[in-house]
Amino acid sequence: MACHLLVTDFAIPLKSPNLSHLRLQRKGSSNGSQKVSTTVAYYGLKTPPYNLDGLEPYMSKRALEVHWGVHHRGFVEDLNKQLGKSDILYGYTMDELVKATYNNGNPLPEFNNAAEVWNHDFFWESMQPGGGDMPKLGLLEQIEKDFGSFTNFREKFVETALSLFGSGWVWLVLKRQEKRLAVVKTSNSINPILWDDIPILNLDMWEHAYYLDYRNDKAKYVSTFMNYLVSWNAAMDLLKACKVTTAHVCRAPYVGVSNLISASLNVTGLESIIGK
Ligand SMILES: [Fe+2]
Repeated sequence: MACHLLVTDFAIPLKSPNLSHLRLQRKGSSNGSQKVSTTVAYYGLKTPPYNLDGLEPYMSKRALEVHWGVHHRGFVEDLNKQLGKSDILYGYTMDELVKATYNNGNPLPEFNNAAEVWNHDFFWESMQPGGGDMPKLGLLEQIEKDFGSFTNFREKFVETALSLFGSGWVWLVLKRQEKRLAVVKTSNSINPILWDDIPILNLDMWEHAYYLDYRNDKAKYVSTFMNYLVSWNAAMDLLKACKVTTAHVCRAPYVGVSNLISASLNVTGLESIIGK
């Protein structure tokens, strides 16, 4: 599978130090000595952390070929085309790009593609082969603390997904200030990082996510996600990372969860998670 689009002639200082997913190319120069004509920022199409048939029979290989291989790829390619026209947004991480292009509620043309790349990268990580069932003890305790019971959480998540009008996403997030879990829904490409929530998992409720396998049966799609696909392992890793890292990076799909534990600042108030 094609993953990265880039050819790098030389490195250029970026706005953020952690930009392994981002490469930059200046056309017309291989050593920096010639006149620079254009600056282009390329974002790669991230591969799901399993084979495209890895979620069968609950999400078919054909569905992933279309959803990841066509729709997600299209968002990446369209974003790169947009970014290639200007260097104003050059050098941003994907988090920074989503926030910058949202432009305080007056989105720039690049916003929808940038946010959909972010959302889909996170979505693939929110599922796993053999997923579903119940979260592990530490996450389960936090869910029971914040929702009353796992059954209540599940009902809330399903109800929120099915009440979403049109296209969008349903999320389990950590409220940064309140330090509690919550279920939220967003329309179109909107991402909760825009109001500083920390995503823990998400579910794609765009029609392209379910029509091949479930036609218009959204209820079956959502219940199948909860029963057989959701990655509580990834959710638990992210929540643990939130306990011991900067909240800024604790969800980033471009940074492996295992790498997050080494960050330094604390997000306090999740004592029920630590040590589990
Ligand atoms: Fe999608």
